[in-house]
Amino acid sequence: MQDQKYILALDQGTTSSRALLVNASGEIIGMAQKEFKQIFPQTGWVEHDPLEILDSQLMVLEKVVRQAGIAPEQIAGLGITNQRETTVIWNKHTGKPIYNALVWQDTRTTDICEALIEKGLEAYVKKTTGLVIDAYFSGTKILWLLDHIPGAREQAEAGELLFGTIDSWLLWHLTDRQVHATDMTNASRTLLYDINQLCWDEYLLETLNIPAAILPQVHPSVHPFGHFKLQGHTIPITGIAGDQQAALFGQACFKKGMAKNTYGTGCFMLMNTGKKPQFSTNGLLTTIAYGVDGKVTYALEGSVFVAGAAIQWLRDGLELIQSAEETHALAASLPEDNPVYVVPAFAGLGAPYWDMYARGAIFGLTRDTGKAHLAKATLESLAYQTKDILMAMSEDSGIKPKKLRVDGGACANDYLMQFQAHILNIVVERPKVVESTAMGAAYMAGIGCGLWQFSDIKDNQPLDRSFLPGYDKERRKKLYKKWKNAIKRTKKWEK
Ligand code: G3P
Repeated sequence: MQDQKYILALDQGTTSSRALLVNASGEIIGMAQKEFKQIFPQTGWVEHDPLEILDSQLMVLEKVVRQAGIAPEQIAGLGITNQRETTVIWNKHTGKPIYNALVWQDTRTTDICEALIEKGLEAYVKKTTGLVIDAYFSGTKILWLLDHIPGAREQAEAGELLFGTIDSWLLWHLTDRQVHATDMTNASRTLLYDINQLCWDEYLLETLNIPAAILPQVHPSVHPFGHFKLQGHTIPITGIAGDQQAALFGQACFKKGMAKNTYGTGCFMLMNTGKKPQFSTNGLLTTIAYGVDGKVTYALEGSVFVAGAAIQWLRDGLELIQSAEETHALAASLPEDNPVYVVPAFAGLGAPYWDMYARGAIFGLTRDTGKAHLAKATLESLAYQTKDILMAMSEDSGIKPKKLRVDGGACANDYLMQFQAHILNIVVERPKVVESTAMGAAYMAGIGCGLWQFSDIKDNQPLDRSFLPGYDKERRKKLYKKWKNAIKRTKKWEK
């Protein structure tokens, strides 16, 4: 079996680092995972320790190879997929970060964003980067680090510092500090990358006062990025993509109009829009889906900041439940429509509202409200947020999907999936393998190292279950109207 080849996929997410081994038939044969610390130094601030991320990622990498009992020379290629936008700046001589990573959910740069909006930059940012001006993206996080960490700006200008999203941070270390690069999907989340010309945008760099010397080189997602040494053996790193784009790839959404929805820490729906960027008039982002075989494919994206994180909040913040799985039984124990609504705007509201000042709220409490209502309302908030996005996507694309493909951790929750089908009034399809993100990175790396051709990746994933809609129009309308009302009341709360 020594001649069997494998692909190693690293999936560096918001709450855990994972490593998966995939065999030449595209089957997952091993997985290792490690959670790491979430750091909340102040209200609205969310940080990670980049060294802990690196250590946990290396640990699971070695573990999955060890557990599978394969030799390093059997690994044909390595792919990286990652939480996007999260920003690290490090010293290129010492390899040490100048500060913790500012996580995509961090809202400390709201004021910087406000100033950019007042300068009238919104239209330029949208047509150049496909994004809206929001604390979510890396650009204002870089600015904050350069302006708040003593000596950072001078060092950056002297060419001593490097910036990267998590993929770049990992790549630089995996290649023994040789390669400072990223891929187009990650670059397209920085607020600094021109998605039409495929280069860093000089005007935005100048306006945000960010020295170009700190930026990584940008390559397509399938590319010979560099090499990693494992037990003396050299493994080529041949695929990189942001996790949501990787999930689109992993679900084989290669045709225009195909979409997926990933229920992770946040919830991200992406629709393939083909070879030209399509700009939204309904609050969605335009982003690069993947760059493969010399061609760039674009996507429309609806980004919901808090999804699985809301269930985590029930467990760790409120301590109402001991495990996320309990929410299914709690929700299902209440047969009536839920009068309680939770709006989990813990990090403001993302698409389609883009309100950095919104905050979370619970509505409809009465004397008999119990934890089952709260668990149910929290699950339902994921489905309502998805409906907001799907409606915006249908408006923008003119396509009314008949089915929704789902993946990510929380899609294992049957109550959520069934309610999702009811409230959207379309079929929700859950594949057997919901590891689409890691599979996307594996496919890219496998194409990059020549184990597979792009045309080998087929849209034929077996389904675990289809959830059929069953609510009549009146019922859907009544429930959704209340959600919209709840959203309205949370807007601009912090302003
Ligand atoms: O844009 C943020 C996103 O990439 C985070 O993904 O899976 O860690 O919630 P996830």
